[in-house]
Amino acid sequence: AALVGRRARSWWRWARVVGVVGQFEEDCATPVWKLRQVVDAMVVEMHAGLASDGGSKLKMLLTFVDTLPDGDEDGVYYALDLRGTSCRVLKVQLGGSGPKIINHKVEQQQIPEELVSSTSEVLFDFIALTLKEFIEREENGQVPGSKKELGFTFSFPIRQLSVSSGVLIKWTKGFTIEDVVNDPVGTLAVGHYDDADTVAAVIIGDGTNACYIERSDAIIKYQGLLTDSGFMIVNMEWGNFWSSHLPRTSYDIALDDESPNRNDQGYEKMISGMYLGEIVRRVLHRIAEVSEIFGDSAHHLSVPFILRTPLMAAMHEDDSPDLREVGRILEESLQTSGLSLKTKMIVVRVCDIVTRRAARLAAAGIIGILKKIGRDGSGGVASGRTKGKPRRTVVAIERGLYTNYSMFRVYMNEAITDILGEEIAQNVVLRISEDGAGIGAALLAAAYSSKR
Ligand code: GLC
Repeated sequence: AALVGRRARSWWRWARVVGVVGQFEEDCATPVWKLRQVVDAMVVEMHAGLASDGGSKLKMLLTFVDTLPDGDEDGVYYALDLRGTSCRVLKVQLGGSGPKIINHKVEQQQIPEELVSSTSEVLFDFIALTLKEFIEREENGQVPGSKKELGFTFSFPIRQLSVSSGVLIKWTKGFTIEDVVNDPVGTLAVGHYDDADTVAAVIIGDGTNACYIERSDAIIKYQGLLTDSGFMIVNMEWGNFWSSHLPRTSYDIALDDESPNRNDQGYEKMISGMYLGEIVRRVLHRIAEVSEIFGDSAHHLSVPFILRTPLMAAMHEDDSPDLREVGRILEESLQTSGLSLKTKMIVVRVCDIVTRRAARLAAAGIIGILKKIGRDGSGGVASGRTKGKPRRTVVAIERGLYTNYSMFRVYMNEAITDILGEEIAQNVVLRISEDGAGIGAALLAAAYSSKR
């Protein structure tokens, strides 16, 4: 009788686990018809955001970048790339006559924890010093006399006033400083420099965002703003995109409720590196509540953000037959011991559901952009077909989640094909851009300095 009782308890325990995971999977589902709804919602919101400020959750910010480097630039340029909690300084040497980056050097500097919530003056003093020391080292200890051209890219939303100034709209990623700075479209600039078919750039790292080349006459909210080139790069701030078509679960709602920026960055909260590990953690916590499969370590699962996304990716990609890496990571971060293979498989399953949804939603966003600018091949010459053939279209992608997480890449490319169909999808190239934001900022500095 004792044995039967134990078996029955075990059966019920697993039934409850399967119930939680099954429900989660159902709520995260992204069948093609749903992705197409997301594509269309993205297009609608893009139009609304371009029509008026505040017309949509998509801010569709003007960048005033209406010149792209054309390959004639030459000389040495520096750039600053300010990210979540790190800052990168770059030196880029351009060759002139034909796009050519002869050399580039990058140094990364961690921003000390206490500066992240300090005043902007202290933060920018620190950044300026980092840059000064880097330039001095590069110029062999001589305090540089000649004027240096510097590009600045910034991973926070800003409303630009011109190509070299802007007002910070809101600090995200835990920063609480408020002041004036300017913004990135570097990934697109370098992408376009390397490959003229590049029309958009997407960042998928701690946060997520996209920008693209828009015709100036399509930017209704700035009617009358004429650019010589007839285009301008628009910073979508797509992390803030929202649509009722997004597959939202109770875990997403709880994450949002407990976040410092409730009701904002809804799309980002389903896609970017800052959140994926946390969604997984929440689901595992729920599983721990309804079963005992995590044993004594279950209480660790109640600690927000304890499961970082890189660790989640490593677990997801563990291909050892006994899921050794999953065991090791859970042991290290949650102090578990002796988890069964079945439990580890559940963890991998949850990682898979979360990442697949993220990658497919990001893919839908990209197709939304292509549809808006007529590059999704949905028909006729205007939508990206020349003489019946779809036109080659490149989207530059940057940052860890896409570059270091192969399952994310696989799911994203798969979704592009699901949505567009094979023939059209073949012409859409997602191109990885390493350090593109920083190098692109230097390129823009070069392009604008030759214009002045
Ligand atoms: C966040 C910021 C955005 C940035 C993105 C990627 O979404 O709001 O400005 O581009 O992260 O770093």
